[in-house]
Amino acid sequence: MTFNPKPDVCQPTGTAELPMLDIYMPMMKSAAIVAAARLGVFEALSQGGLDAGQLAQRTGADGLGVRTLADFLVALGYLLRDGEAYANTASTQRWLTSAGAIDYTPGALWTYEAWAMMGQLDSAVKAGRPAQTLWERMSEEPHLGPLFSRYMHAFAQDLGPDLVVHTPVEPGHQRLLDLGGSHGLHAMRFCRHHPQLQAVIVDLPSALTDTPASIAAAGLSERISTRAGNVLDLGWGEGYDLVLYLSVGHNQQPEDNRRVIAEIARSLRPGGLLVVHDYLAGTPLNAFHAAFRLTLLFETGTRTYSEQEYRGWIDEAGFSSVSRVDLDPLEKGSLLIARR
Ligand SMILES: C[S@@+](CC[C@H](N)C(=O)[O-])C[C@H]1O[C@@H](n2cnc3c(N)ncnc32)[C@H](O)[C@@H]1O
Repeated sequence: MTFNPKPDVCQPTGTAELPMLDIYMPMMKSAAIVAAARLGVFEALSQGGLDAGQLAQRTGADGLGVRTLADFLVALGYLLRDGEAYANTASTQRWLTSAGAIDYTPGALWTYEAWAMMGQLDSAVKAGRPAQTLWERMSEEPHLGPLFSRYMHAFAQDLGPDLVVHTPVEPGHQRLLDLGGSHGLHAMRFCRHHPQLQAVIVDLPSALTDTPASIAAAGLSERISTRAGNVLDLGWGEGYDLVLYLSVGHNQQPEDNRRVIAEIARSLRPGGLLVVHDYLAGTPLNAFHAAFRLTLLFETGTRTYSEQEYRGWIDEAGFSSVSRVDLDPLEKGSLLIARR
């Protein structure tokens, strides 16, 4: 699919700067996409174009309401309008419907939850840490855990093919450990690709609510098990050939990553592999990395780490080699692959 950048509705159309465009418009843009996802507008259009009346009927929304929303989504480059008919753009169809390759609707639904939370960002900045971590919120509000896992599942669908291509699994590798494995999609993908593998997924209970059912639906219950637990307790056993530590390091404090990576090295057989996925901090931080760091300060009171920091922990743990793979686009993050 060709990549067509969407119009930047935060930019003034004349020569003068207008600060409110940059303050108010990102909120309206996000609000419109999230509202459309919650109402099922993109999904309703996934089988073909509809006029505002039909769209209202399909989504249970008011006719004027849905037309006003749809017209803004046209201006944003999320919908097309031909006469009275609205249709998804190729990108919307691809990324925000079940008819596309990867459906990020759970990301939009998560953003709805994140909004209310981010209203308290100034308090976290003032304190230098969250009033309540995301994991604490999840145990108080049980709907958040499964929603977050579904959001991570969408990311994992996108990342999965890169992971399998870049991870040199060998015929003798038999046991996989997926730390913070959540939805289980990565463990399932590796097991499908490498029929000799058996896998264990360790994660917090809030992240594993739907995972056994997904594994069973994939027919992999004989080969993949889940274990509810805290990775920081280091109780996952030994004799593994492949350990995945994917987008989990940025949720931990540096000293905890050092401990976890040392324990991973102890639990791997000689020749075994550690695969880290993360958004490696560069200097200076670009806007994406700086925004993600602010999210982490607010959500977990942690931060992203640089390649040098990871290499320090990996070298100290006694791995014999480590290589870095930057994914395309760069916002997809990087892999560090270390061999014991
Ligand atoms: C950003 S998600 C990544 C999920 C998955 N690895 C992936 O790449 O799609 C981070 C995961 O780490 C888990 N996690 C964070 N801290 C943890 C801890 N101390 N013990 C166990 N799991 C943890 C979270 O519950 C969540 O499922």
